[in-house]
Amino acid sequence: MVERTLSIIKPDAVERNLDIDIKSFFKKNGLKILKSKKVKISREEASEFYKVHQTKPFYNELCNYLSSGPIIVMILEGENAIAKNRQLMGATDPLKAEDGTLRKMYGISIDKNSVHGSDSMENSKIEIDFFFK
Ligand code: CMP
Repeated sequence: MVERTLSIIKPDAVERNLDIDIKSFFKKNGLKILKSKKVKISREEASEFYKVHQTKPFYNELCNYLSSGPIIVMILEGENAIAKNRQLMGATDPLKAEDGTLRKMYGISIDKNSVHGSDSMENSKIEIDFFFK
């Protein structure tokens, strides 16, 4: 099934000018970039975006981090785009990510893991609306 998902190139990757490489990696692997924009969100917006994690011990740092610098938000489209994007990103912790995945190639730490992708159909709709409505 053709799906849409939200992808974020996080501050650590934008800062290192990895956006062109990351975008071409998505395209090469069958995900079309329907929309893309560079934004800088506030601490409040980050806490709203990541509210599913509000009970987690890392929530505060996570929100500080996402709002710490420019990010690139994209709508990706393709066959099974949600799972496909998660496969291309690799495990959350770059140390555990499989070879050839974005987080293995570019991630610095579990916080600075370069990319975010929606984890379900429900969240992909919510996350796309958050940035593109
Ligand atoms: P992301 O896919 O953007 O979703 C939530 C983020 O929380 C995750 O990537 C990580 O960057 C960050 N995070 C920080 N610590 C942890 C942790 N212990 N477990 C999972 N995610 C974490």
